[in-house]
Amino acid sequence: MSSVSLRDYAAVRLNELCRAVDFPGPRDEATRLFQEILGPGGYNSISDDPRWGSDVSDDRTPFEFSVAFDSDGTPTIRILIEPTAEHPSNLANMEVSKRILQALSNRLDFSLDQFTAIQDLFLPEDPQGKFAMWYSLVLRPNTPPSFKLYFNPEVRGHCNAPALVREGFQRLGFPAAYETVLRHAGRRGHHLDSYSFFTLDLRQHVRPRVKVYVSHHMAEEPTVRRAAEAVPNADPDQVVEFCRVSGGGTGLFAHRPLISSYSFVEGDTDRPSVYTLYVPIRDYVNNDEEARNRAAELMTRMDLDPALLDRALEAVARRPLTEGVGMIPHLSLRLGWPKPGFTVYLSTEAFAVCPPRRSALVS
Ligand code: TRP
Repeated sequence: MSSVSLRDYAAVRLNELCRAVDFPGPRDEATRLFQEILGPGGYNSISDDPRWGSDVSDDRTPFEFSVAFDSDGTPTIRILIEPTAEHPSNLANMEVSKRILQALSNRLDFSLDQFTAIQDLFLPEDPQGKFAMWYSLVLRPNTPPSFKLYFNPEVRGHCNAPALVREGFQRLGFPAAYETVLRHAGRRGHHLDSYSFFTLDLRQHVRPRVKVYVSHHMAEEPTVRRAAEAVPNADPDQVVEFCRVSGGGTGLFAHRPLISSYSFVEGDTDRPSVYTLYVPIRDYVNNDEEARNRAAELMTRMDLDPALLDRALEAVARRPLTEGVGMIPHLSLRLGWPKPGFTVYLSTEAFAVCPPRRSALVS
């Protein structure tokens, strides 16, 4: 294994995951896109220390898989990726990300109008915070790959995040969105309810979609119940149940924050179409077997088959589930239009494994 590059490692992991969940069709194009988006940093060896402390994963691996299950069968695979430069910094990585975007849009013929409308807001000359621009590569069965761009609302500092989000929505044609988000997810002030991501979908011939993510530090159930109430058809009781099962009964999420996201698509004015709750389950279990069991319980409650989850885990795991924590960093519940969905996030631990906790952490 010693001189394996990150991009070769990434390709093997992706192909194993696709095979495990019977993802149909040729995987070569998806693999090539994945490697391209990793940028020049993808040529570095995984046996060296990572040159960039990517916030995508706890162990600094600059990519993370997720598998979204719905009752129709074949799951959707998504890959969150931070492109990195040969000599990485927020600025250098941002330049790499922009170059990749240009190349992709020329080749794959998607519009950059929305990106162009907000780039001067979110991509300043001296990007601050944890990252400048991430990608999500979305692989749906029998559909060409699509992309999502992640921007950092704190790229001009924590205090400027609310203004950036408000202006971003305004420029993209959702002038009433900010007030709704604030009223439902930002009630405790932006130190406790902080903006984590602002995202754009890049897809051909589909209605534009904008998402905002709010991290709820030190949250209890009423915070996410209130957040879910922004979305028509999202059942707040289901959100609360999801917190109870995934958090193992914890009342207060005092470690990594719960996160809410809202999707606004063309035609939405003040109310978003979709609410998603993300639970950082790795902070609320002792090891990944516990995380797997809670995920399986949630799937069963949603009439989904946990066998698919087990196959996905087997494809990603390079160690027993009890011997670490963090292979399953988050679980998420999606509510609203068109139907509920459940997603498991999978970390491939290219650089390091976080040891299991020996005693009950949940307080
Ligand atoms: N690693 C970061 C975190 O845990 C960012 C991140 C990666 C994330 N994947 C995610 C956040 C999925 C929410 C959901 O916060």
